Amino acid sequence: MADVTLISGSTLGSAEYVAEHLAEKLEDAGFSTETLHGPELDELPLNGVWLLVTSTHGAGDLPDNLQPLVEEITERLPDLSEVRFGAVGLGSSEYDTFCGAIKALDQLLIERGAKRIGDRLEIDVTQHEIPEDPAEEWLINWVNLLK
Ligand SMILES: Cc1cc2nc3c(=O)[nH]c(=O)nc-3n(C[C@H](O)[C@H](O)[C@H](O)COP(=O)(O)O)c2cc1C
Repeated sequence: MADVTLISGSTLGSAEYVAEHLAEKLEDAGFSTETLHGPELDELPLNGVWLLVTSTHGAGDLPDNLQPLVEEITERLPDLSEVRFGAVGLGSSEYDTFCGAIKALDQLLIERGAKRIGDRLEIDVTQHEIPEDPAEEWLINWVNLLK
């Protein structure tokens, strides 16, 4: 099992690129990683560290590629008490439902017993042309909390 399993939810690729960038930075810091774009529940280790990176679409909705995972968690109610996770969202503050997807995922995982490491990062793409930049900055502190 990798030290960190990155889980991305993306429609047009931005969140996917951010996840890949963070995986690279984690590898540079000595962690092994596995990056899964829109995985199913059975592909995920039910212990260890997850790093979720998702954009928001529709009106506060999850990207299509993460909806099956959320449905599975909601229906199968897995015990995630051995999971610690980080949460990174991409969204646009032009929407009332800013970063709705990562907020919903964060809440769902906590309800299933998972423990969030550090603060949730919500990247406003209207303020950050390159979302990898604030994500990389956030990662520095997150990595320290992992140790
Ligand atoms: C049709 C559409 C709906 C969106 N809805 C929301 C929203 O409800 N809340 C939000 O914070 N951002 C919203 N966004 C902004 C996206 O989350 C943002 O552009 C993000 O960078 C897209 O990343 P992706 O390419 O990984 O999907 C929306 C964008 C589009 C095109």
